[in-house]
Amino acid sequence: MSLRTLHLTRSGRALGAAAVTAIAALAAVTAMPTGQAGAAGTALRSLAEAKGIYFGTAITQGDLNNPALTAVAGGQFGMLTPGNEMKWDTVEPSPGSFNFAPADRLVSFARTNSMKVRGHTLVWHNQLPSWVNSLAGDQVKPAMQRHITNTMAHYKGGLYAWDVVNEPFNEDGSFRADAFYRAMGTGYVAEALRTARAADPGAKLYLNDYNIEGLNAKSDAMYNLVKSLKSQGVPLDGVGFQAHFVLGQVPSSLKDNLQRFTALGVEVAITELDDRIKLPATGADLAKQASDYASVINTCLAVTGCVGITQWGVGDADSWIPGTFPGEGAATMYDNGYQPKPAYTASANALGGSTPSPSPTPTPTPTPTPTPTPTPGGASCKVTATANTWNTGLTTDITVTNTGSTTVDGWALAFTLPSGQTVTNTWNASITPAGGQVTAGNLGYNGTLAPGAATSFGYQATHTGNTQLPTRFALNGVVCATA
Ligand code: XIL
Repeated sequence: MSLRTLHLTRSGRALGAAAVTAIAALAAVTAMPTGQAGAAGTALRSLAEAKGIYFGTAITQGDLNNPALTAVAGGQFGMLTPGNEMKWDTVEPSPGSFNFAPADRLVSFARTNSMKVRGHTLVWHNQLPSWVNSLAGDQVKPAMQRHITNTMAHYKGGLYAWDVVNEPFNEDGSFRADAFYRAMGTGYVAEALRTARAADPGAKLYLNDYNIEGLNAKSDAMYNLVKSLKSQGVPLDGVGFQAHFVLGQVPSSLKDNLQRFTALGVEVAITELDDRIKLPATGADLAKQASDYASVINTCLAVTGCVGITQWGVGDADSWIPGTFPGEGAATMYDNGYQPKPAYTASANALGGSTPSPSPTPTPTPTPTPTPTPTPGGASCKVTATANTWNTGLTTDITVTNTGSTTVDGWALAFTLPSGQTVTNTWNASITPAGGQVTAGNLGYNGTLAPGAATSFGYQATHTGNTQLPTRFALNGVVCATA
């Protein structure tokens, strides 16, 4: 085990040499070059790693055929969760017959791009083949044990973690009466975890669910389950909070909730983050989404034992949201063309970077600069700002010009307010949050900016002595020139 220091996690556990060997073997079979992507040192993943957490994404087998998607996935994200390919219906579609080929392709892609992998998921009521539901009661436990043992054996030593049990609870906190519960009662969770530990002692074992992000009946149920399992000595390392959020509804109790879990001695992770918007998304929506993303990231950073964040999908074009929630979408950090949205900029900033114009090309870890520089090849926006100040307040007028050659349809202008300035009033745009790294979004009537067109908006703010103009303007993720 001389390679045991590879892949040190925030809590100090290492993936062993077996992990590296197993995945390297897979990679050798189906190595998939992804252009520039692959090295460490790219934006989100390295910003996150510098803060001691990971930033991940979920991708599916079909996604591997999309070069725009794979370039962003491999370049920006340091953790990969297979979107569907490790679920029971793919892995063991009929009793005892295992198919790892689709998941192996994704693990290989991860290895090629130096990404770690979260296994998802072993025991879940969905995407469960009908034969499991048809088993006689006493057959479910051996079927579950075999499924866990064989699946984890295939990836033994190679994965960061497994979601051993997914979505065990109903909204009211009662156990979901799925095949496993019906056959074994609540004890199926401990049984699954014990089987999992025996199958691969190197993988962290997680329980994962949605709508447990805030303090509520369902998260209480998960909390009580974790507490009970830990007190019985059942192997359990982490709790995954899916975080499929609705715009503007990140629970204010997220931090308190995560902390009560870490106090039980488990790590926590945001495992399936997205933030869905009623379509069509306005600039104000994208600005709100940016602040939602920033708040999730800031919360994870503030909680010792929050080890990472995974977005569910790479961009809006591959997100599961439009297919599952008709009329909603635009739920990720990248638009339909895999260009970064304001949520990307906000995320990079929350992680301590200043990379409003990311590309899949690896870039050195950015250092904050007081003023923005135009992106290589020329900025596509220009900003002028003027202020009127008095002893405790100020008003600022901002004009943004589209200096690019394509029409901007819905705009979000990110910028940094000088410290001590707090927005109290705005016109011709909405601004969130009120201070620090903020984003101004268009209103219904001024969202379209033809090439060469300009629009103006402004705000009133209080200050504590610093009346400087805002800095670091970026329009829809692209750094703007300043006059
Ligand atoms: C989703 C996938 O993204 C879809 O492609 C699939 O059709 C349904 O499942 N919670 C989970 C994920 O744990 O596995 C789900 O993934 C999204 C909700």
